[in-house]
Amino acid sequence: TNPLRLGIAGLGTVGVGVVKIVRKHAKLLEARAGRPIEIIAVSARSRDKDRGVDIARYDWEDDPVAMARRDDIDVLVELMGGSDGPAKAAVEAAIASGKHVVTANKALLAHHGQDLAAAAEKAGTVLRFEAAVAGGIPVIKALTEGLAGNEITKVMGVMNGTCNYILTRMEATHQGYNALFEEAHKLGFLEADPQLDVGGIDAGHKLSLLASIAFGTQVNFDAVELEGIEQISLRDIEEAAEMGYRIKLLGVAQMTGRGLEQRMSPCLVPAASPLGQLEGGTNMVVIEGDSVGQIVMRGAGAGEGPTASAVMGDVVDLARGLDISTFGMPASRLVPAKPATAAVPAAY
Ligand code: NDP
Ligand code: HSE
Repeated sequence: TNPLRLGIAGLGTVGVGVVKIVRKHAKLLEARAGRPIEIIAVSARSRDKDRGVDIARYDWEDDPVAMARRDDIDVLVELMGGSDGPAKAAVEAAIASGKHVVTANKALLAHHGQDLAAAAEKAGTVLRFEAAVAGGIPVIKALTEGLAGNEITKVMGVMNGTCNYILTRMEATHQGYNALFEEAHKLGFLEADPQLDVGGIDAGHKLSLLASIAFGTQVNFDAVELEGIEQISLRDIEEAAEMGYRIKLLGVAQMTGRGLEQRMSPCLVPAASPLGQLEGGTNMVVIEGDSVGQIVMRGAGAGEGPTASAVMGDVVDLARGLDISTFGMPASRLVPAKPATAAVPAAY
């Protein structure tokens, strides 16, 4: 049978994780996908960097865009990051030359996802982004597939591992923000620009993507009300604890009579609640649907293994020939939504 042939652009935390899974689970993946999954070519900035995995057996491309256009790949796996620049150029080139795309890049999707999805649909290719939201938690598949029979009424959760790590370690160690920021960095959670994490922007990107799928609305990151964790002091955390609460960077998206509310901000959550029990780089996504009721999904939201796990879920779907629209319905069917400002800043 024909192998599904991958070109991987980006060999950092996530890219290396993907290479490891393709190697470690070659037989298992073939059995599940019904065909072998092979890496043909790779691209990154530096050819000589020691990445802890042997990449000499794959073709090297200095230019990810050239790799995206190669005739001998079926899927571009974009793991470079950035909302524009080479990531966008490579994804556009892949789609234009008839390739499928799997990406973990929420910044790219939050800014250009709808146009890219429309381009993929026009070209007859598939663009998937499970790893972009909540790392290893298969929340995109839950919304687009398992919960497709529901009207979704609310999506909320903790969607940035770095922020949850820093906040929970501040509580546990009574250390300041800077030391714990360094710890999060060592764990491979951080974006290339960490301001995206601590400023709540990365989590806002993710929320805007979930809101689009949940409500069938056009992605509108600019309408997310955003506040990061940089202003949270040890004193804030201690006062919350005295009252039986913890502070979480919580995202909430819901369709209200006033329009679509999308908010990402530090919130008080009861320490005994599921959200209040989240530790470290863990994420939690809570979905409410009219038939299913409430679903709570919890797991690692960042890091090599969990994120590569989500990328490979999409790759296996492509190998199986699954053609699911990027946002759960054709991009042309997504409707604009009037943004609603949150009536009350939240405690949950
Ligand atoms: P890293 O910074 O660890 O890796 C980025 C990779 O892209 C590096 O290999 C780098 O090359 C390569 N790269 C960067 N710019 C270029 C360029 N101009 N041309 C060619 N290659 C380039 O990032 P991550 O692996 O952490 O993240 C990758 C993507 O996954 C991002 O979109 C991120 O938001 C997303 N993501 C990350 C998660 C995580 O836990 N880390 C979780 C979920 C999503 P070189 O190594 O040579 O410098
Ligand atoms: N920087 C992100 C986080 C990576 O800390 O959650 C996962 O998207």
